[in-house]
Amino acid sequence: MWAKIKHVWPNSNGFQIFMSVIILAIESSCDDTSAAIIRDGEVLSNCVANQEAHQQYGGVVPELASRAHQANIIPVVELALRKAGVTAKELSAIAFTRGPGLLGSLLVGTTFAKAMALSLNIPLIEADHMQSHVLAHFAEAPKPAFPFLCLTVSGGHTQIVLVKDFLDMEILGNTIDDAAGEAFDKTGKMLGLDYPAGPIIDRLAAQGAAVFPFPEPSVAGLNFSFSGLKTAVLYFLRDQKAINPNFIPENLANICASVQHTIVKVLLKKLRKAAHQTGIRQVAIAGGVSANSGLRNALKAMGEKEQWEVFIPAFEFCTDNAAMIGVTAYYKYLQGAFTGQDAAPYTRSGQ
Ligand code: KG4
Ligand code: ZN
Repeated sequence: MWAKIKHVWPNSNGFQIFMSVIILAIESSCDDTSAAIIRDGEVLSNCVANQEAHQQYGGVVPELASRAHQANIIPVVELALRKAGVTAKELSAIAFTRGPGLLGSLLVGTTFAKAMALSLNIPLIEADHMQSHVLAHFAEAPKPAFPFLCLTVSGGHTQIVLVKDFLDMEILGNTIDDAAGEAFDKTGKMLGLDYPAGPIIDRLAAQGAAVFPFPEPSVAGLNFSFSGLKTAVLYFLRDQKAINPNFIPENLANICASVQHTIVKVLLKKLRKAAHQTGIRQVAIAGGVSANSGLRNALKAMGEKEQWEVFIPAFEFCTDNAAMIGVTAYYKYLQGAFTGQDAAPYTRSGQ
Protein backbone atom coordinates (compact mmCIF):
# COMPACT_ATOMS: atom_id res chain seq x y z
CA MET A 1 0.00 0.00 0.00
CA TRP A 2 2.83 2.41 0.86
CA ALA A 3 4.71 1.70 -2.37
CA LYS A 4 2.39 4.34 -3.91
CA ILE A 5 3.78 7.06 -1.66
CA LYS A 6 6.09 9.42 -3.52
CA HIS A 7 7.84 12.62 -2.50
CA VAL A 8 7.35 14.12 -5.96
CA TRP A 9 3.84 15.30 -6.91
CA PRO A 10 2.47 17.00 -10.04
CA ASN A 11 0.69 20.32 -9.33
CA SER A 12 -2.35 21.60 -11.28
CA ASN A 13 -0.06 22.93 -14.05
CA GLY A 14 1.66 19.58 -14.41
CA PHE A 15 4.90 20.80 -12.82
CA GLN A 16 6.53 18.48 -10.33
CA ILE A 17 6.58 19.65 -6.73
CA PHE A 18 9.28 18.14 -4.55
CA MET A 19 7.78 17.42 -1.15
CA SER A 20 10.14 17.20 1.78
CA VAL A 21 10.47 13.79 3.38
CA ILE A 22 10.11 14.39 7.12
CA ILE A 23 10.75 11.40 9.38
CA LEU A 24 10.22 11.01 13.10
CA ALA A 25 12.75 8.44 14.32
CA ILE A 26 12.67 6.60 17.64
CA GLU A 27 15.54 4.70 19.26
CA SER A 28 14.94 2.66 22.42
CA SER A 29 17.20 -0.40 22.07
CA CYS A 30 19.01 -0.14 25.41
CA ASP A 31 18.91 2.48 28.15
CA ASP A 32 18.56 5.77 26.25
CA THR A 33 15.22 6.99 24.94
CA SER A 34 15.77 9.11 21.86
CA ALA A 35 13.65 10.83 19.21
CA ALA A 36 14.80 12.80 16.18
CA ILE A 37 13.34 14.64 13.22
CA ILE A 38 15.08 14.21 9.88
CA ARG A 39 14.08 16.29 6.84
CA ASP A 40 15.43 15.10 3.48
CA GLY A 41 18.29 13.33 5.28
CA GLU A 42 19.23 16.39 7.39
CA VAL A 43 18.94 16.31 11.17
CA LEU A 44 16.54 18.97 12.50
CA SER A 45 16.48 17.71 16.08
CA ASN A 46 17.99 14.86 18.07
CA CYS A 47 16.80 14.50 21.68
CA VAL A 48 18.01 11.89 24.16
CA ALA A 49 16.75 11.07 27.66
CA ASN A 50 19.49 9.21 29.53
CA GLN A 51 18.49 6.78 32.26
CA GLU A 52 20.37 7.22 35.51
CA ALA A 53 18.61 4.32 37.26
CA HIS A 54 21.32 1.82 36.16
CA GLN A 55 24.41 3.62 37.49
CA GLN A 56 24.48 1.87 40.86
CA TYR A 57 23.92 -1.63 39.39
CA GLY A 58 27.05 -1.81 37.20
CA GLY A 59 24.98 -2.52 34.08
CA VAL A 60 21.60 -1.98 32.45
CA VAL A 61 18.69 -3.54 34.38
CA PRO A 62 16.26 -4.52 31.57
CA GLU A 63 13.04 -4.07 33.56
CA LEU A 64 14.08 -0.62 34.80
CA ALA A 65 15.10 0.36 31.25
CA SER A 66 11.77 -0.68 29.83
CA ARG A 67 9.81 1.24 32.47
CA ALA A 68 11.93 4.37 31.98
CA HIS A 69 11.36 4.20 28.19
CA GLN A 70 7.61 4.16 28.83
CA ALA A 71 7.90 7.26 31.01
CA ASN A 72 10.25 9.10 28.63
CA ILE A 73 9.00 8.35 25.16
CA ILE A 74 6.13 10.85 24.86
CA PRO A 75 8.04 13.84 26.31
CA VAL A 76 11.09 13.04 24.16
CA VAL A 77 9.02 12.77 20.96
CA GLU A 78 7.20 16.02 21.80
CA LEU A 79 10.52 17.75 22.43
CA ALA A 80 12.00 16.49 19.13
CA LEU A 81 8.96 17.79 17.20
CA ARG A 82 9.03 21.13 19.02
CA LYS A 83 12.77 21.67 18.53
CA ALA A 84 12.44 20.88 14.82
CA GLY A 85 9.41 23.16 14.44
CA VAL A 86 7.48 20.28 12.88
CA THR A 87 3.94 19.09 13.63
CA ALA A 88 2.89 15.44 13.62
CA LYS A 89 0.63 16.12 10.61
CA GLU A 90 3.68 17.09 8.51
CA LEU A 91 5.43 13.75 9.05
CA SER A 92 6.06 11.47 6.04
CA ALA A 93 6.97 8.34 8.03
CA ILE A 94 7.80 6.98 11.50
CA ALA A 95 11.08 5.09 11.96
CA PHE A 96 12.09 2.85 14.83
CA THR A 97 14.92 0.56 15.94
CA ARG A 98 13.75 -3.00 15.40
CA GLY A 99 16.93 -4.58 16.87
CA PRO A 100 19.35 -5.71 18.14
CA GLY A 101 18.82 -4.69 21.74
CA LEU A 102 16.89 -5.52 24.90
CA LEU A 103 13.46 -6.95 24.14
CA GLY A 104 11.53 -4.91 26.72
CA SER A 105 13.25 -1.70 25.60
CA LEU A 106 12.74 -2.37 21.88
CA LEU A 107 9.06 -3.19 22.47
CA VAL A 108 8.35 0.29 23.84
CA GLY A 109 9.78 2.09 20.78
CA THR A 110 8.33 -0.42 18.32
CA THR A 111 4.83 -0.25 19.78
CA PHE A 112 4.89 3.53 20.01
CA ALA A 113 6.08 3.87 16.39
CA LYS A 114 3.46 1.45 15.10
CA ALA A 115 0.64 3.22 16.93
CA MET A 116 1.74 6.65 15.72
CA ALA A 117 2.15 5.50 12.09
CA LEU A 118 -1.28 3.88 12.23
CA SER A 119 -3.00 6.92 13.71
CA LEU A 120 -1.37 9.31 11.17
CA ASN A 121 -1.85 6.82 8.31
CA ILE A 122 1.79 7.11 7.21
CA PRO A 123 4.45 4.43 6.57
CA LEU A 124 6.48 2.71 9.24
CA ILE A 125 10.22 2.10 8.65
CA GLU A 126 12.41 -0.24 10.69
CA ALA A 127 16.14 0.36 11.14
CA ASP A 128 18.88 -1.96 12.35
CA HIS A 129 20.73 -0.43 15.29
CA MET A 130 24.25 -1.43 14.15
CA GLN A 131 23.71 -0.42 10.52
CA SER A 132 22.42 2.89 11.84
CA HIS A 133 25.54 3.48 13.96
CA VAL A 134 27.50 3.30 10.68
CA LEU A 135 25.06 5.61 8.87
CA ALA A 136 25.42 8.18 11.66
CA HIS A 137 28.28 9.38 9.44
CA PHE A 138 25.64 10.79 7.09
CA ALA A 139 23.97 12.87 9.80
CA GLU A 140 26.29 15.79 8.98
CA ALA A 141 29.33 16.69 6.88
CA PRO A 142 31.99 15.52 6.25
CA LYS A 143 30.35 12.40 4.82
CA PRO A 144 32.47 9.48 3.60
CA ALA A 145 32.20 8.21 0.02
CA PHE A 146 31.66 4.51 -0.72
CA PRO A 147 33.31 2.13 -0.11
CA PHE A 148 34.69 2.86 3.35
CA LEU A 149 35.64 0.83 6.41
CA CYS A 150 33.86 1.42 9.72
CA LEU A 151 34.98 0.17 13.11
CA THR A 152 31.68 -0.02 14.99
CA VAL A 153 32.32 -0.26 18.71
CA SER A 154 29.51 -0.18 21.26
CA GLY A 155 28.36 -1.79 24.50
CA GLY A 156 27.20 -4.94 22.72
CA HIS A 157 29.16 -5.07 19.45
CA THR A 158 32.66 -4.73 18.01
CA GLN A 159 32.67 -4.97 14.24
CA ILE A 160 34.77 -4.02 11.25
CA VAL A 161 32.27 -3.24 8.51
CA LEU A 162 32.91 -2.82 4.80
CA VAL A 163 30.34 -0.19 3.80
CA LYS A 164 29.59 -0.53 0.08
CA ASP A 165 26.48 1.65 -0.01
CA PHE A 166 23.90 3.15 2.37
CA LEU A 167 22.12 -0.16 2.79
CA ASP A 168 24.80 -2.57 1.59
CA MET A 169 27.32 -3.56 4.27
CA GLU A 170 29.53 -6.58 4.90
CA ILE A 171 30.87 -7.48 8.35
CA LEU A 172 34.56 -8.37 7.96
CA GLY A 173 35.33 -8.88 11.65
CA ASN A 174 33.42 -9.38 14.88
CA THR A 175 34.10 -10.02 18.54
CA ILE A 176 34.09 -13.68 19.53
CA ASP A 177 33.16 -12.83 23.15
CA ASP A 178 32.86 -9.42 24.89
CA ALA A 179 32.40 -6.13 23.05
CA ALA A 180 34.89 -3.26 23.46
CA GLY A 181 32.31 -1.24 25.44
CA GLU A 182 31.79 -4.23 27.74
CA ALA A 183 35.55 -4.37 28.33
CA PHE A 184 35.42 -0.73 29.49
CA ASP A 185 32.28 -1.24 31.59
CA LYS A 186 33.33 -4.54 33.22
CA THR A 187 36.85 -3.42 34.10
CA GLY A 188 35.30 -0.19 35.41
CA LYS A 189 33.03 -2.21 37.67
CA MET A 190 36.11 -3.99 39.11
CA LEU A 191 37.54 -0.55 39.85
CA GLY A 192 34.34 0.48 41.66
CA LEU A 193 33.25 2.93 38.92
CA ASP A 194 29.61 3.63 38.03
CA TYR A 195 27.92 2.31 34.86
CA PRO A 196 28.65 3.12 32.08
CA ALA A 197 32.32 3.17 33.01
CA GLY A 198 33.61 3.93 29.49
CA PRO A 199 33.33 7.73 29.74
CA ILE A 200 34.69 7.69 33.33
CA ILE A 201 37.73 5.60 32.35
CA ASP A 202 38.25 7.98 29.42
CA ARG A 203 38.35 10.99 31.80
CA LEU A 204 40.60 9.28 34.37
CA ALA A 205 42.95 7.89 31.70
CA ALA A 206 43.73 11.45 30.60
CA GLN A 207 45.30 12.04 34.04
CA GLY A 208 47.39 8.86 34.04
CA ALA A 209 49.91 6.87 32.01
CA ALA A 210 49.70 3.36 30.52
CA VAL A 211 52.33 1.94 32.85
CA PHE A 212 50.71 -1.46 33.52
CA PRO A 213 51.10 -3.87 30.61
CA PHE A 214 48.04 -6.03 29.93
CA PRO A 215 48.26 -8.88 27.41
CA GLU A 216 46.73 -8.44 23.97
CA PRO A 217 44.56 -11.33 22.73
CA SER A 218 45.70 -13.26 19.69
CA VAL A 219 42.63 -13.90 17.55
CA ALA A 220 42.82 -14.95 13.92
CA GLY A 221 41.77 -12.74 11.02
CA LEU A 222 39.82 -9.59 11.68
CA ASN A 223 37.97 -10.87 14.76
CA PHE A 224 38.36 -9.54 18.30
CA SER A 225 38.34 -10.96 21.83
CA PHE A 226 38.09 -8.93 25.03
CA SER A 227 37.21 -11.52 27.68
CA GLY A 228 40.93 -12.26 28.31
CA LEU A 229 41.59 -8.62 29.16
CA LYS A 230 38.80 -8.67 31.73
CA THR A 231 40.35 -11.75 33.40
CA ALA A 232 43.87 -10.26 33.23
CA VAL A 233 42.66 -7.07 34.97
CA LEU A 234 40.81 -9.13 37.61
CA TYR A 235 43.92 -11.16 38.55
CA PHE A 236 46.20 -8.12 38.35
CA LEU A 237 44.00 -6.18 40.79
CA ARG A 238 43.69 -9.19 43.13
CA ASP A 239 47.48 -9.64 43.26
CA GLN A 240 48.22 -5.94 43.71
CA LYS A 241 45.58 -5.52 46.41
CA ALA A 242 47.15 -8.44 48.34
CA ILE A 243 50.36 -6.38 48.49
CA ASN A 244 48.75 -2.95 48.94
CA PRO A 245 45.05 -2.73 49.93
CA ASN A 246 44.98 0.87 48.62
CA PHE A 247 46.38 -0.09 45.22
CA ILE A 248 43.23 0.90 43.27
CA PRO A 249 42.66 4.39 44.76
CA GLU A 250 46.40 5.14 44.63
CA ASN A 251 46.77 4.06 40.99
CA LEU A 252 43.31 4.62 39.49
CA ALA A 253 44.35 6.97 36.68
CA ASN A 254 47.26 4.74 35.62
CA ILE A 255 45.09 1.59 35.68
CA CYS A 256 42.46 3.35 33.53
CA ALA A 257 45.11 4.61 31.10
CA SER A 258 46.57 1.08 30.83
CA VAL A 259 43.19 -0.59 30.19
CA GLN A 260 42.20 2.05 27.62
CA HIS A 261 45.59 1.84 25.91
CA THR A 262 45.24 -1.95 25.51
CA ILE A 263 41.67 -1.75 24.13
CA VAL A 264 42.57 1.01 21.66
CA LYS A 265 45.70 -0.84 20.52
CA VAL A 266 43.75 -4.06 19.85
CA LEU A 267 41.01 -2.20 17.95
CA LEU A 268 43.35 -0.20 15.73
CA LYS A 269 45.63 -3.14 14.95
CA LYS A 270 42.70 -5.00 13.39
CA LEU A 271 41.40 -1.90 11.65
CA ARG A 272 44.80 -1.38 10.03
CA LYS A 273 44.84 -5.05 8.99
CA ALA A 274 41.41 -4.62 7.37
CA ALA A 275 42.56 -1.48 5.55
CA HIS A 276 45.64 -3.28 4.23
CA GLN A 277 43.60 -6.32 3.16
CA THR A 278 40.93 -4.31 1.34
CA GLY A 279 43.14 -1.46 0.10
CA ILE A 280 40.51 1.00 1.38
CA ARG A 281 41.80 4.33 2.69
CA GLN A 282 38.59 5.91 3.94
CA VAL A 283 38.31 4.78 7.53
CA ALA A 284 35.57 5.60 10.06
CA ILE A 285 34.64 4.78 13.64
CA ALA A 286 31.12 4.62 15.11
CA GLY A 287 29.20 3.54 18.21
CA GLY A 288 29.48 4.58 21.88
CA VAL A 289 33.17 3.67 22.24
CA SER A 290 34.02 5.94 19.30
CA ALA A 291 33.44 8.79 21.79
CA ASN A 292 36.64 7.66 23.54
CA SER A 293 39.32 10.33 23.31
CA GLY A 294 42.16 7.79 23.35
CA LEU A 295 40.64 5.99 20.36
CA ARG A 296 39.87 9.22 18.50
CA ASN A 297 43.41 10.55 18.95
CA ALA A 298 45.09 7.25 18.13
CA LEU A 299 42.96 6.88 14.99
CA LYS A 300 43.89 10.38 13.84
CA ALA A 301 47.59 9.58 14.37
CA MET A 302 47.30 6.25 12.55
CA GLY A 303 45.35 7.92 9.76
CA GLU A 304 48.17 10.40 9.18
CA LYS A 305 50.76 7.65 9.17
CA GLU A 306 48.77 5.36 6.88
CA GLN A 307 47.51 8.23 4.70
CA TRP A 308 43.86 7.48 5.39
CA GLU A 309 40.97 9.88 5.25
CA VAL A 310 39.56 9.49 8.75
CA PHE A 311 35.90 10.03 9.76
CA ILE A 312 35.04 10.50 13.43
CA PRO A 313 31.42 11.37 14.34
CA ALA A 314 30.45 14.27 16.60
CA PHE A 315 29.83 13.03 20.17
CA GLU A 316 26.04 13.24 19.90
CA PHE A 317 26.12 10.78 16.98
CA CYS A 318 28.52 8.28 18.66
CA THR A 319 26.38 7.04 21.53
CA ASP A 320 22.82 5.84 21.00
CA ASN A 321 20.68 8.44 19.25
CA ALA A 322 17.59 8.52 17.06
CA ALA A 323 19.17 10.74 14.39
CA MET A 324 21.11 7.74 13.06
CA ILE A 325 17.85 5.76 12.91
CA GLY A 326 16.20 8.60 10.97
CA VAL A 327 19.11 8.85 8.52
CA THR A 328 18.88 5.10 7.81
CA ALA A 329 15.11 5.38 7.45
CA TYR A 330 15.49 8.24 4.95
CA TYR A 331 17.49 6.03 2.57
CA LYS A 332 14.95 3.23 3.08
CA TYR A 333 12.12 5.67 2.38
CA LEU A 334 13.72 6.59 -0.96
CA GLN A 335 13.73 2.87 -1.84
CA GLY A 336 10.15 2.36 -0.65
CA ALA A 337 11.40 -0.15 1.95
CA PHE A 338 8.56 0.10 4.45
CA THR A 339 7.71 -2.14 7.39
CA GLY A 340 4.44 -3.90 8.21
CA GLN A 341 2.51 -3.53 11.45
CA ASP A 342 3.36 -7.17 12.26
CA ALA A 343 7.14 -6.55 12.64
CA ALA A 344 8.43 -7.90 15.95
CA PRO A 345 11.68 -6.70 17.58
CA TYR A 346 14.80 -8.86 17.32
CA THR A 347 17.28 -8.98 20.19
CA ARG A 348 20.36 -10.25 18.32
CA SER A 349 21.90 -9.37 14.96
CA GLY A 350 20.86 -11.59 12.08
CA GLN A 351 17.59 -12.82 13.66
O1 KG4 B 1 26.48 2.72 21.18
P1 KG4 B 1 26.19 2.80 22.63
O2 KG4 B 1 25.72 4.12 23.19
O3 KG4 B 1 25.13 1.73 23.04
C1 KG4 B 1 25.15 0.42 22.53
O4 KG4 B 1 24.71 0.24 21.38
O5 KG4 B 1 25.68 -0.44 23.27
O6 KG4 B 1 27.52 2.34 23.39
C2 KG4 B 1 27.55 2.27 24.78
C3 KG4 B 1 28.96 1.89 25.19
C4 KG4 B 1 29.11 1.65 26.69
O7 KG4 B 1 29.81 0.44 26.86
C5 KG4 B 1 29.93 2.84 27.16
O8 KG4 B 1 30.75 2.56 28.27
C6 KG4 B 1 30.76 3.12 25.93
O9 KG4 B 1 29.87 2.94 24.84
N1 KG4 B 1 31.28 4.49 25.91
C7 KG4 B 1 32.59 4.79 26.01
C8 KG4 B 1 32.70 6.20 25.99
N2 KG4 B 1 31.43 6.73 25.87
C9 KG4 B 1 30.58 5.65 25.81
N3 KG4 B 1 33.66 3.98 26.11
C10 KG4 B 1 34.87 4.57 26.22
N4 KG4 B 1 35.04 5.91 26.21
C11 KG4 B 1 34.00 6.75 26.11
N5 KG4 B 1 34.19 8.08 26.11
ZN1 ZN C 1 24.41 1.62 20.10
